Order: sequence, then structure tokens, then C-alpha cells
Amino acid sequence: MKLPVAELHVHLEGTLEPEMIMELAHKNGIALPYESLDDLRSRYEFTSLQSFLDLFYANMVVLCTAEDFTELTLAYLERAAASGVRHVELFFDPQAHTSRGLALGEVISGIRAGLAEGQTRFGISHQLIACFWRHAPASEAMELLIELVRDDHDIDGIGLDSSEVGFPPELFTEVFAYAREHGFRVVAHAGEEAGPDYIWQALDLLKVERVDHGIRCLDDPQLVKRLVAEQMPLTVCPLSNVRLRAVDTIEVHPLPHMLEAGLNVSIHSDDPAYFGGYLDANLAAVVNAFNLDIDTQAQLARNSFTATFLEAEAKVKLLAEVDTWLSAKK
Ligand code: ADE
Ligand code: ZN
Repeated sequence: MKLPVAELHVHLEGTLEPEMIMELAHKNGIALPYESLDDLRSRYEFTSLQSFLDLFYANMVVLCTAEDFTELTLAYLERAAASGVRHVELFFDPQAHTSRGLALGEVISGIRAGLAEGQTRFGISHQLIACFWRHAPASEAMELLIELVRDDHDIDGIGLDSSEVGFPPELFTEVFAYAREHGFRVVAHAGEEAGPDYIWQALDLLKVERVDHGIRCLDDPQLVKRLVAEQMPLTVCPLSNVRLRAVDTIEVHPLPHMLEAGLNVSIHSDDPAYFGGYLDANLAAVVNAFNLDIDTQAQLARNSFTATFLEAEAKVKLLAEVDTWLSAKK
């Protein structure tokens, strides 16, 4: 039995595997600048977050219809089920699709159809989080948010992602205030490449309920104290951090220091089709690098469930699955 976990930091578009990129391009008559699957694969070497984002945004042009989004969501959920995921709070980037002329309703209904089918087929519960691009003007995010509210689109929360350095959370203070007023749950990427000041802003100005990545918090002891006191969830993605050069190697990843400090961390996959593995591979990477014992592994899984936006009753049920896993291991 795989360790049961909640996946709280995965971008749907980051689950687009190279084979599916080629298939969808063929189906939709999209000309890609790659000669072959191998040529595409040869480009998966990144030197920074931006070098990844350039390829990531270029590839998602193959997603054209609601059915494409449904197919991608279902393919992800099948893989997630095999890696122990019991609940997912899925990110997607609406601007990556509306900027290409797709209708918001098409994108959301396509993803929702996949999530509903995945719940039936694989027993994975879900929430859906629309992430705003921090490299685009906050006014564009606000327009999109107003549309989400006005047309009553089926979204549980909002997030903030894309290029980090130079685009601080403070730019989105009003957007997040509006989202909170309208009942959305709120999360933001912060402290992936940029420093602790971005995490402070995410907490104080955006009033986030989880911080995505957050690994740079260790540069600021006062911030660590605050995050520990509030038990603020940090959704850490080890393979992403290595592949995007936020850390040099898995052996020097700050996870052990984060655990030692009493931070509320859990392990996630970010963009698994690009970074060499889904949630199970991310867990395996840190378990092997740091020799994490089964109690620590169970704690990471519990942290993932307590950090979800589920009701208390659902959390209790999922937490019991971790106890069952642990008893079977002992
Ligand atoms: N979008 C997809 N993956 C991302 C990451 N790791 N950081 C910021 N934005 C992203
Ligand atoms: Zn991310």
C-alpha cells in the first residue's frame, strides 16, 4: 500500500506528458517547433524557473477544447491514484488559456468533468484552484476574478504563480482581498526563488492560508518563528527545486532543517511531467536522501491532509488512512 497523501501543489498543465503534447498537437492540427518526441524531451533541461516557464507555456497551446482538459485531468488522476493521492487541490492557469482565445467556461467545465469522473474511477476527492499570473498586470487578474464571480464559475480557491522575482505579492493585495470577500480560499507561491520578504507579504498582505514552496523562509529566523507559531502549511516540491536550480542537489535540500524547525511541511510534485516524477517520486527522493523513518513519512502525509480545504469530517477519515498505513508498516 502506498502512503496515502493529499496533493496540494500540482499544476494541471505541468502534468502534460511529452507523448500527450505530441498527440494533442496532431489531433488539433497545431504545428510545434519540435522535430520529434526525442527533440521535445531534449529540451527538459532547466537553469531557472523562467527557463522552465518558457517551455511550459509554449507546450500548453496544444490544449484546445474542453475534452482536451478532461483527458489531461483524467490522465493525471490515474497517475496520482497510483502514487497514493487520495485528495487533490488542483492548480490551473486560466490566463494561459484565455490569452489564447479559449473561453473560461470551456476550460473549467473540461477540468471539472475530469475531476468528477476521476472521483468515481479512482476515489480521489478534489478542489480546483485558479492561479493568477504574477508576471501579468494585477488589473488583468482582477478582471478575471470579477468574471469568475459574476458567472459563478466552479472554483474553490485562487493562487498566484509564474515568474517570481520582480513580481512581489503586494501587487496582488486588492485581488486577494476581493477573492477572500467572495469566499475563495487563498494560496500563493512565495519563497521559491525570491527571498523571505515575499513570504511575509503573502502572509500579511494576501493573508494566504498556505504558502506554495516557501523554502527560502529559512533565511529569516523571525519568519520561521511566525510560520511555526501559526503552523502555516508550506507545500514543498523537492524535485522541482532541484530541476529549477532553487537548490543544487536533493542532498542539500532544506527539508530536514524545515522539519527540525517544526515547520508544517508536506511534499508535492509541482509539474511532474517536467521534473521527473509524481508525488510518490518526490517522497521517495527525500526519504532516500535523508533516510526519513516511517513516522516522519506518516507525519508528512498527515500534514498534507490537515492542510487541505476539506471539512473536518473528511480530514478525520483521510488521517485514519495514514494510521492504517503506519500500523501495517510496524
Ligand atoms: N507554474 C508552474 N510551475 C510553477 C512554479 N514552480 N513556480 C511558479 N509558477 C509555476
Ligand atoms: Zn508551483
